[in-house]
Parts: sequence; C-alpha cells; structure tokens
Amino acid sequence: MADKPVLLITRDMPPAVEARAVLSYEARLNRVDEIYDSDGLIAAAEGAEALLVCSSEPMTREVFMRLPDSVKITACFTAGYDHVDLEAARERGITVTNAPDALTDAVADLTLLLLLGAARRAGEGEAIMRGGGWIDKHLLAMTGSEIGGKRLGIFGMGRIGRAVAKRARAFGLVIHYHNRGRLAEDLEAGAVWHESAASLLECADFLSLHCPSNEATRNFLNAENIERLPRGAIVINSSRGDVVDDEALIAALESGRLQAAGLDVYRGEPDDIHPGYARLANTFLLPHIGSATVETRSAMGLQALDNLDAYFAGRPPPNRLA
Ligand code: 8YV
Repeated sequence: MADKPVLLITRDMPPAVEARAVLSYEARLNRVDEIYDSDGLIAAAEGAEALLVCSSEPMTREVFMRLPDSVKITACFTAGYDHVDLEAARERGITVTNAPDALTDAVADLTLLLLLGAARRAGEGEAIMRGGGWIDKHLLAMTGSEIGGKRLGIFGMGRIGRAVAKRARAFGLVIHYHNRGRLAEDLEAGAVWHESAASLLECADFLSLHCPSNEATRNFLNAENIERLPRGAIVINSSRGDVVDDEALIAALESGRLQAAGLDVYRGEPDDIHPGYARLANTFLLPHIGSATVETRSAMGLQALDNLDAYFAGRPPPNRLA
C-alpha cells in the first residue's frame, strides 16, 4: 500500500473528523489545541503534503511564500476565506479549498436568534435575571419590537442568506434582498430583489448582513448607509465584522437612530473588539458561535476531508478556491 499523505491539522478536531483523518492520512494532530503562529505553522508543515487550517491561522502571502515545497494543498475548515491569500497560494501552486455548505443551517438558525434577541431585548432580560432582579411593573417595561409583518433586508442572498429568508418567512417577515444579480425564481422564493444596496437599505426594518468580507464589502455599513435605513431599524451581523464601520454603528445605536443590533462577528475579534458594543444596552452580542453546534463543526471538518480525499485521489476537489 502506498504511503499515506502527511496531513498537518492545525487545531484539535471533533472526534469524527480526527477518526477519519487518521485512517486516510499520516495525520499530525494538535490535541493541546495551542494556536500556531506563522513560524510555528511553517515549522510544523515541514514534510507535510496537506494542511487543514482554521480561521485562527492567517494564511497570508508571507506564510504561503515560506511554506515548504512539500505542501500541495491547504483545506480550510471554514466557509469564509478572508484569512487566506488565494493569489499567493496560486503563485506557489498550492491548491486551496473551503467548506461552504456544512454551516448554512447553523448560521441561519443563529441569525434568527440574533434577530429575535435584538428585537425582544433578550440580552437585557437575561442580565436582569442573572443579577437577581426583575423588571419594572409598568406595562411598557422591556417592550421590544414585533417582527411579523416587518421587512427583512438581506444583503447577500447566497446559501446562508436564503436559509435565513426561509426561516424568517415562518415568522411573517417580508423578505427583500440585494445581490449582484437577481436570483432565479425558485431561489428567490417570493423575495423582492433590489438592484441597488441603497434601495434595499431604505426599506429594511431589519437588515441582516450575509456577504463575504472583501474589498467591495469592507465598511459597507458606514454612516452614509446607516442614514439610509428607516429610523429605528435593527441591524444583524453574522457574516464578518469588518463589513461594519464600528464607530458609525455604535453612534447610531447610542443616539437611538437605530433601535438595536444583534452581532455574532466583530472587527478585530477575538482580542481587539470595539468596547462600545458591550457598553450599550441595545446590543445583543454573541462570541462568533454561528457554526458552533457539534453536528456542524464535525460536518465542516468532514467537508474539508472530502476536499483532501478528492485531491489525493486525483479528482477535482469539490470546493476548490485556488
Ligand atoms: C468560524 C466561520 O470561523 O466558517 C466560517 O467562515 O466564520 C466560522 O465557522 C469558526 O469559528 C471556525 O473557526
């Protein structure tokens, strides 16, 4: 039997992923789950033909240029690949794949949690209960916003955007979206397409961001675009933090121009998140747990292995990016 390919797995994996990896690969595991810095990653990759990386390892140009020649493929555990310099990978002739399908439902579920949590002031309520308190007896105390009948603007109607739309319809939200192009009728499922982002913003009682982070989307939700939203709109972000201009969003939440925000992702996460969000009562904040279910985290790793298996069997990896 031919030698198994050497695979460096940068993080401690869910058991099902590790069990399958060790069958097909000479897997270098990271059970202590200590995060590699660039030098550590490059040293650990010596002699490996494949890497399975997470978003904790920024795969920058510098890293790709310094990787040993033995490395032929980098499979990302994640759907997002803003931490990977695809151009540099191409220059080194290194194949790159991502895992785009496995997390769709988990992230869509969590997006509805953010939407409900922000609209119904769940964070404030939870804090009161944990503090041993109770609410003011006034009938208008802790009142939030009804969601049924309101318009949900989805910015980026890819897999996750569509899965959010499907769930939101069940709550009676009316779906509007902006995408580069209009979707086919079956994918649109009755949602209203806006050719421009500006027109979507103008009608969004709730705005949910589902675009990738790239040059075109960075700081999309800035002061100018926040001004386009209806007064009292609610903003939801489960995509990437840098799509939002933090100063502008915090100012709009502080002044009451926006009613609330539900956020799972942050610019500078995990160590350098804008402190303003946590100081506000009208934010509902989660620590980037969109894909964090046992089932989804396993499925993400298995999808990464599917890509590696295809590559080593001489087939095109299903989720090739470079
Ligand atoms: C994570 C994600 O980054 O896949 C993505 O693009 O944003 C998430 O699933 C997760 O924290 C794994 O590192």
